[in-house]
Amino acid sequence: MAYNDRFLRACRKQPVDRVPVWYMRQAGRYDPDYRKIKEKYSLLEICRQPELAAEVTLMPVRKLGVDAAILYSDIMNPVASIGIDFDIVKNVGPVIHNPVATAADVERLKPIDVEKDLAHVLETIRILDRELEVPLITFAGAPFTLASYIVEGKPSRSYQLTKSLMYREPAVWHSLMGKLSDMAVAYLRAHHQVGAKAVQLFDSWVGALAPHDFREYVLPHVKSIFEQISDLPIPKIYFPGVNSGELLSSLTGLQADVVGLDWRVPLAEGRSRTEGRFAVQGNLDPYVLEAPEAVIREHAKRLLDEGMQEDGFIFNLGHGLYPEASLEKLRDLTAFIHEYSSEKLRPEVRA
Ligand code: CP3
Repeated sequence: MAYNDRFLRACRKQPVDRVPVWYMRQAGRYDPDYRKIKEKYSLLEICRQPELAAEVTLMPVRKLGVDAAILYSDIMNPVASIGIDFDIVKNVGPVIHNPVATAADVERLKPIDVEKDLAHVLETIRILDRELEVPLITFAGAPFTLASYIVEGKPSRSYQLTKSLMYREPAVWHSLMGKLSDMAVAYLRAHHQVGAKAVQLFDSWVGALAPHDFREYVLPHVKSIFEQISDLPIPKIYFPGVNSGELLSSLTGLQADVVGLDWRVPLAEGRSRTEGRFAVQGNLDPYVLEAPEAVIREHAKRLLDEGMQEDGFIFNLGHGLYPEASLEKLRDLTAFIHEYSSEKLRPEVRA
């Protein structure tokens, strides 16, 4: 089979013969085979076994027929290397044993040592680079979203401690953001060296900030990350997470290729708010997958009609897949996206 580069082409706003699709959290608990592996190993134990981590990454590619793979890992994975002790607790998420609260805590954070502490991740990427016939996306957590765990100590709804540090101690905050940005840059550069074909910066929770505060406390760091990886010849994606519609107009200066949208923002609106600077990725509400297949197709069709109005559209969900999603419906949706879009994108139909 020839290498499928539709995802990379769409990232670069080049024409494609069908719309590429992948799903955030496409390796996960909706898949019974994944659940079986999880009975034996925790997420971090899987990550430390490159053959197994590669296998888990490949599962959704084989089962769903998606156009990109995403490395099986977690945004928290690299933070152990800078001195944060954490676990990923079942049905909770990341829990940090030494949360960051003070200037001294931030000062203690070390630079990341990817070769030494994350050799297993690099090995997983090398294996995948040999085996995949679709591009491999690797990722890093963006500084705000990582801080929301590192400062709170656990998942939060209000981000009270995070915002408290940000508003009370801006110098400490910016120092923390700077260190997390340096980590992301070194980590993503290492991924590229061993075979990553695209990178995504996950800022899942930054939509919790007012636009002004995003620009003041976070955006300079996100900008600097993309600047520092701008020489890498691979597409770069920024996902500003849920509730980020009001932040989109602040993103136009980012040296990224793609912006991820949540389901609250129509695709055309996402494009116009970012002045057409990026390809767009998204943005089906994941819970639409609860509906019968015919209804899911109606929603997908509407998104495709809107997304295909311009080059540079990657079908995805507006946020990650949830554990109870149906493998069958995902398979049907993926096939529908491919069929419907390839019909619409035929040169004689397009003209
Ligand atoms: O398939 C993929 O998308 C690749 C794997 C991936 C995971 N985490 C594996 C995982 C990716 C890209 C992530 C990123 C991640 N991790 C984000 C950003 C994306 C998002 O969803 O907003 C965030 C915020 C985290 C932190 C985190 N890790 C949370 C909130 C949880 C959920 C807790 C739960 O149990 O639902 C995790 C655990 C986690 N990371 C799971 C998976 C598949 C689920 C638990 C498991 O299967 O062990």
